[in-house]
Amino acid sequence: MIKFLSLKDQYNSIRVEIEEAIRNVINDCAFSGGKYVEKFEHEFSSYLSENGEYVCCSSGTSALHLTLIAIGIGKDDEVIMPSHTFFATVEAIAYTGAKPVLIDCCEDYLIDTSMIESKINPKTKAIIPVHLYGQPANMDEIMHIAERRNLIVIEDSCQAHGAIYRGKKAGTIGHAGCFSFYPGKNLGAYGEGGGIFTKDPDIARKIRMLRSHGEKARYQHQFIGYNERMDGIQGAVLSVKLRYLDEWNKKRNEIADLYRKYLCNDRIKLPEKHDDRTHVYHLFVIQIDGRNELMNTLKRNDIDCAIHYPKAIHQHEAMKHYDFFMKDNDYPVSSRLVDRILSLPIYAEMKISDVEQVSEQILKAIQ
Ligand SMILES: Cc1ncc(COP(=O)(O)O)c(C=O)c1O
Repeated sequence: MIKFLSLKDQYNSIRVEIEEAIRNVINDCAFSGGKYVEKFEHEFSSYLSENGEYVCCSSGTSALHLTLIAIGIGKDDEVIMPSHTFFATVEAIAYTGAKPVLIDCCEDYLIDTSMIESKINPKTKAIIPVHLYGQPANMDEIMHIAERRNLIVIEDSCQAHGAIYRGKKAGTIGHAGCFSFYPGKNLGAYGEGGGIFTKDPDIARKIRMLRSHGEKARYQHQFIGYNERMDGIQGAVLSVKLRYLDEWNKKRNEIADLYRKYLCNDRIKLPEKHDDRTHVYHLFVIQIDGRNELMNTLKRNDIDCAIHYPKAIHQHEAMKHYDFFMKDNDYPVSSRLVDRILSLPIYAEMKISDVEQVSEQILKAIQ
């Protein structure tokens, strides 16, 4: 069986450090927030950038949601985002009462920046580009548009831990960058987790309060907030795993290079890669005709693969109240590619022989 991802292999490779880190949290009873979370906040902030700060919270979804509230997004506002992403991006906007405004993606799976300006109106307050699959979006163009039109940019970096765009880490270029530490992410916790990087002390201060019941100090509630703190165990686990992030991303790149070599074939569209940025291959996504048949054949041969994602945002039932619901013609690229994309197994511990076997089976199946 070739797994899509093996968290067990990763755990085995760092077992001693992880178990010690978890034991320390339990010994100190630092379960909710606390010193292990603070330590990780400092470490991840320094990893991302020389200046700025990092605020941990309970998930990537809450990171996006709290950031939108902190910058004042609410009813009557509009927020621009790509039509091809994980559903949480649109949920975070919907929670605030603001209207999500979708932009189609390009063949590289990233938001089509040439279409952003046409969707801006006086209600538009923010843009959320998504660094989908681990490759940063065209941040220079997005930041130019945002500066010209006075908009806030929140990077959805939930899939791009450690990716670099023109010398800057993904998540540090906009006004805020939101991360998920869901277990399967390139930097994943042992449960749920997320957080926000920002160079704006006001945004950071508000998010710190929002994640803990709007508290300014213990039991001094300045506004209605949430319980969205990170667990101590997650902070401690993430501190251990952060030490390995670059090495693991490098291994993912090596696996991606092998796939590119083996799967060089007219019938397979390999993921597009830009020279001005690094890709951390949270996912290695190919496009192919007859995707479903191929997926079934691979599964029959004990090769696990997945689809990220089988529907574009405008195609989900949950979106039926919005004016973009089911308008495939408005989002032709994302509407087409959701029927063609296939995510192949990729993780740092994956064996070269497994990459070879996956590639071999794909080539055999499409002959
Ligand atoms: C692009 C994107 N945005 C947001 C999220 C939400 O993160 P979480 O699952 O930690 O809430 C994810 C997680 O899968 C994601 O991939």
